[in-house]
Amino acid sequence: MNDKIDFSRIDCTKEPPLEEPARQYYYMAKCRRHVRKLEQKLGRRPLFFTQTFGCQMNARDSEKLAGILECIGYAEASKEEDADFVIYNTCTVRENANQRVYGRLGQLNRMKKKKNHLLVALCGCMMQEPHVVEKLKQSYRFVDLIFGTHNLYRFAELLACRLESGRTIIDIWKDTDKIVEEIPSDRKFPFKSGVNIMFGCNNFCSYCIVPYVRGRERSRNPEDILREIRALVQDGVVEVMLLGQNVNSYGKTLKEPMSFAKLLTEIERIEGLRRIRFMTSHPKDLSDELIDVMSRSTKICRHLHLPLQSGSTRILEKMNRRYTKEQYLELVEKIRRAMPDLSLTTDIIVGFPGETEEDFQDTLEVIKKVRYDSAFTFQYSRRTGTPAASMEGQIPPEIVKDRFDRLLSAVQSISNEVCGRDTKTIQEVLVESVNDHDPSLLTGRMGNNLLVHFPGDASCIGTLVNVKLEECKGFYYLGTQV
Ligand code: SAH
Ligand code: SF4
Ligand code: F3S
Repeated sequence: MNDKIDFSRIDCTKEPPLEEPARQYYYMAKCRRHVRKLEQKLGRRPLFFTQTFGCQMNARDSEKLAGILECIGYAEASKEEDADFVIYNTCTVRENANQRVYGRLGQLNRMKKKKNHLLVALCGCMMQEPHVVEKLKQSYRFVDLIFGTHNLYRFAELLACRLESGRTIIDIWKDTDKIVEEIPSDRKFPFKSGVNIMFGCNNFCSYCIVPYVRGRERSRNPEDILREIRALVQDGVVEVMLLGQNVNSYGKTLKEPMSFAKLLTEIERIEGLRRIRFMTSHPKDLSDELIDVMSRSTKICRHLHLPLQSGSTRILEKMNRRYTKEQYLELVEKIRRAMPDLSLTTDIIVGFPGETEEDFQDTLEVIKKVRYDSAFTFQYSRRTGTPAASMEGQIPPEIVKDRFDRLLSAVQSISNEVCGRDTKTIQEVLVESVNDHDPSLLTGRMGNNLLVHFPGDASCIGTLVNVKLEECKGFYYLGTQV
């Protein structure tokens, strides 16, 4: 993708084109001149460093930023201290995500005092909140560039503007109905990739900030998704992760509506693609058609992330989740009937306003019934502007912490029991890397998303191999290649 743009044909003395992505290619050409000058001054290629703070969609956005930076002449730094350009792609789903950003900004300020050509950019979900941008303007004036989630594709244009004017650039859009395709990206792994199938969220769960910072739900056209995946496969990708806040409602807003299950069927036909994953499924929209397509598929991984959030119908209603405890349990039963070997994971929040011990017991009951392979557990975090933030009955932190600890130990003891169920079976594994701690071992991922470590040669990275699972170590296996 990055080599497809022919910069020698772009005349930067002319006015910029209005249509996208040509406009961004024009600004990339402009940025290239500045970066070349910097390169001459430094006597080496300038380096960039991106830090992703959020979810997989945030990570995919970082790959786009990296793709643009490489296109304009930067190379990736292996550590932040070496960089000439640092970008933080922020998350605001919980307060601690925000605090991490502010903490790191203090360090960056010190770094910038020593290296005055250092550029600092902030983008992502946190920037969509006006009070954050206000705080940055007042107390973090060294930041060069601030933009949001909706105009990320304009990164080159904003950067060109910063480089030419020398001023701080702040550009945040409230929302957009635009989806700009064909922006370069630099994948973290050569053999697997995230693929956005939709943007935004319309569900407005009452605790959640995402619909406010990511805007209204919009689906990409199926032809564009298929074209992107075909190109990725040509480029060596064997596994794709389809990304959306609620993939089960994919296609509802398209001119010619299309179901997620139908999209999966089309993707499955792509030759050379070996594995398909997706995130996240909202229980309220999970269709029988999807269960059917999944259970017949040879490429869709036997893993479903199905956020529960709470096991109490009363709390679920206050959360605006639009399912009851019983409906959730029935759905799980139906899915398990169709795919007994499916691995199920979930997200759970404790301490939502008004949650009683009885409500919490309902949550424990559901996790004991479902027996998740693993669960992400969160303490409720009050997000300004969401309905839950102004609800009565906010729970004192010590009670939240106590429930959280009890939940975590319940979840962990169940997943320890569940994890070992495939011991002594042979599983297909996508080899991802050399093991971090022991270079004689490789680390691979099974269809159910668990990791397995086994002796092997680094030349296997990026391929699918069969591994016999010898021993379960809690949340991973040790195995041998067969
Ligand atoms: N769209 C996805 C989730 C995106 S956010 C879905 O609906 O499943 C990821 C997880 O963060 C959520 O599932 C939820 O468990 C958690 N979360 C979101 N807002 C939160 C908040 N205010 N406090 C604590 N956890 C939260
Ligand atoms: Fe947030 Fe709910 Fe949308 Fe998920 S579905 S992003 S939890 S509002
Ligand atoms: Fe965070 Fe934004 Fe993702 S708030 S979880 S980075 S959509």
